[in-house]
This record gives sequence, C-alpha cells and structure tokens, in this order.
Amino acid sequence: MSAKASFESPANIAFVKYWGRRQGPRPRPFNPSISMTLSRCVSRSTVEHVADGEASEVWLARDGALAPAPEKFAAGVLVHLEALASWAGAGGAFRVATENSFPTGAGIASSASGFSALALAAAAALGRPLEGAAAASAVLLGGSGSAARSLLGGFVEWPGGAPVAAGADAPPRQLAPAEHWALVDVVVVVDAGEKAVSSRAGHERAPRSPYFAPRLEALPGRLEATRRAIADRDIEALGAVLEAEAIDLHLIAMSSEPPILYWRPGTIELLQRVPELRRAGLPVFYTIDAGPNVHLVAPAEHEEALVAALAESAPGCPLIVDRVGAGPRRLDRHLF
Ligand code: PMV
Repeated sequence: MSAKASFESPANIAFVKYWGRRQGPRPRPFNPSISMTLSRCVSRSTVEHVADGEASEVWLARDGALAPAPEKFAAGVLVHLEALASWAGAGGAFRVATENSFPTGAGIASSASGFSALALAAAAALGRPLEGAAAASAVLLGGSGSAARSLLGGFVEWPGGAPVAAGADAPPRQLAPAEHWALVDVVVVVDAGEKAVSSRAGHERAPRSPYFAPRLEALPGRLEATRRAIADRDIEALGAVLEAEAIDLHLIAMSSEPPILYWRPGTIELLQRVPELRRAGLPVFYTIDAGPNVHLVAPAEHEEALVAALAESAPGCPLIVDRVGAGPRRLDRHLF
C-alpha cells in the first residue's frame, strides 16, 4: 500500500534574524524572529509513503527528469522523514523527489523552503496533514529553524524558544498577509559557492561572541519596531531594523569562536552603495543571511529602478528578483 502527496513551499527572508540556538537536536532559538515569505523562490516536494517498503529513495527533479540525490542531501532528507514517520507512528519506506525554482548552487539557502515542503508532503502522505503547532514541530524535525516561518504567507513571527506544551514547539503566527504590503527582495548573488560554515555551526558558536548578549538586550525594541513598521507600511522604520540586524548577525559571526567571515569583497561594496542609492531617492535597505549575498528590500513600485541601479552597482552579479508571497500550497501534479 502506498500514498503520495506533493507540496510547494516558499523561502523567506528574515527581517529580525534567528541567530543562536540552544544545544539539542531541534532548533530552539534564543530569540523570536520575523520574516517575509517569498513567492518565486520555492521548493517542490513529492513524497510517497510505502507502508510495506524497506528501502527509501531520494531524487532531485530537474527539467522533468529525476536523478538520484547526492548522498549527503539524501541522508538529511531521510533523517527528517524517519523522524516524521515515528511522530506519525508509521513504519515503511519513502520515495521522495524534490526540486527548487531557483538554481541550486546560486548561493541561495533552500533549507526553509525545502524542509517545509518536505514535511508538508510527507505528513499528507502519512495521512496526517499538518496544522497549527503540530506543523511547526514537524517541520523543525528537519533541523532548519527558519523553515517554520515558511509555513505561513506574508509577514510572519516565530517565537521559537522553549516548548509551549508537552514537547510542542511554539507555532509561527502571521503578522499581516502578503496583500498588506507589496515589498520586493532582490538578491544580489555576490558569490554562488556553497558557504564554508553551515548555519547550524554558526548558531552553535554564536553565544560565545561578546556581542551576542548585547544584541539579545536590543531585540525586544527591534521586534516591536518591526511589528509596527509592518503594520504602518513604514519602509524607513523597517529598513533601520533590517540593516542593524544584518550587521549584528555578522558581527556575532565574525567574533564567534572560531570566527566566521561570510562576506566577500562584493558584499562590502554593496553595503557601501546602498546608502548612496537612498540619497539618490531609492528607498532600499539591505539584509544578509549566513552567506555573502545581499538581499535588497524595497517597496514593489521601485523594483524596476532598483534592478536598473544594480546593473551598474553590481555588474556581473546575477539577480534573483522575488516578492512577498502567500505561503505553501498543495499540488495536484506530482514530480513522479
Ligand atoms: O534555518 P536555519 O536553521 O538554517 O537558520 C537560518 C538562519 C538565518 O537564515 C541566518 C536567519 C533567519 O532567521 O533566517
């Protein structure tokens, strides 16, 4: 007996970052985070649960063809699926295919979209569709904290932290739907290579930075300012938090033990260019995740001018132009 389900789930970009996790197998952040769910950078996953199966298989889908996934990738997927199966009280094996709408190797993290699509498809295949707090817990079994925020569309806050009830993780909540505020996120791909230090390692080292505790003290104010900026559609107020958070994440990474330097020369050039673009009248602000690539956030009506400015400011760097989006959806078409 087997059952198959497919889901598409988006990436998200954090305004207030999750950076630093407590010890343990599941992501338990020290601080709440707030993000914007994207619409074009998505992962699609088809999961078939074979109740009497013995060996699981994982493929990558590309241009309609399936190829066996690299060993390390397949192992990560299977750890997540086995955890989901034991959560659902099921045995058996899985057949899985997954694909990204954005080029793999573009230096864009796919863990949030990938693990949320995988958990949603697997739970549906197991006959346990995901809702509420259970959804967050199931997604987090994959090990990516930001994946919990991809469960909802628009602007999303994830409290993270301690379990809310008997082992259940705090679920993310929507601060505002996608229609509330049309923002773009233009990712400037400064370096497409795989980052040398994983975000998991970065999370674990973060509390050893002398700048970790001062940031945590600043966070209640930043979280409140972000909620208010979203409610008021105030790009200047949002932008101030966005840039402070980007710098703090990297300040903490650079001063962790051992230190992590994610930036490349092109990253710094762009950070210097953004205030000049603002002085020239473009309301654009930067943020950076655990890598060298720069995300530029601006109201959607400035997308064309921003892309044109970047052709001059970051010549030769590929751009990924994305927008706020509505969240995951179940697909009728399977990848196999
Ligand atoms: O989702 P993880 O566990 O890979 O951590 C993501 C961390 C950042 O992307 C750097 C920040 C965030 O909140 O998304």
